[in-house]
Amino acid sequence: MVSLSHPLYCIAHRGGRRKGSHSSENTLKAFAESIALGVDAIEVDVWQVGGQLLVTHDRRLGKTLPGKGRLMDHTPSYLRNLEMECGSQIPTLMEVLESIGEQVTLNIELKGPGCAQLVAKTLQQYVHDSSGTYEQYLFSSFDHHQLFQLKQILPQVRRGVLIEGIPLTYARCCEPLEAYSFHPNVDFINQALVDDAKQRGLKVWVYTVNDIDDFCHLSAMGVDGVFTDYPERLLKLNKDLRWQQAI
Ligand code: G3P
Ligand code: MG
Repeated sequence: MVSLSHPLYCIAHRGGRRKGSHSSENTLKAFAESIALGVDAIEVDVWQVGGQLLVTHDRRLGKTLPGKGRLMDHTPSYLRNLEMECGSQIPTLMEVLESIGEQVTLNIELKGPGCAQLVAKTLQQYVHDSSGTYEQYLFSSFDHHQLFQLKQILPQVRRGVLIEGIPLTYARCCEPLEAYSFHPNVDFINQALVDDAKQRGLKVWVYTVNDIDDFCHLSAMGVDGVFTDYPERLLKLNKDLRWQQAI
């Protein structure tokens, strides 16, 4: 019988992008579906286009968004009018903050250049207007310079450091960022990387993990959480493990 060594923190990748689902990734519908499943966190991708923060993943049109060309070469109002397959339109970061409220942790991943200041300002405004707190938020990016900027502007919001492969210095890049978590790619993960991150007191959240054997393997390695397109698969394993532990 397949089983986890310990439960994994379940983060809906791009808010949930299950094949066969009626909601496209990075849409308010997808977030609501994932929250209803019981995920611990939602991860969204944010681009700054023409002074607006748009929640979408791809640098170019043609996959989730109809049309052609670079996101950056269109106006925000043109992009906001495009309809995805599920009928949804691109949400702004503020709309996402308002829609998710305090329900789950929100991981805001910065894509592309020039996001940090506006992301910080938008979150500050939302937290102020809703009389909320910063506890449920986490910023992440492959752009460690923007994470450093965020540390200076809003140090109270947790930072997660995304990497693609295995740096020579393992998780040392997290130190100047005073990161909460380290987010490596499942394709390259090894025990030395996980151990180094754990020794530095970091949570290790791995992307993008969709298969049961991978969940089990990563749990045995001591990984803390995963970004997944299929949260229901992981949530079932977590539930089964808690049930086994209770008997
Ligand atoms: O944040 C984890 C993961 O989303 C990073 O890769 O390309 O899916 O944004 P990507
Ligand atoms: Mg992402």
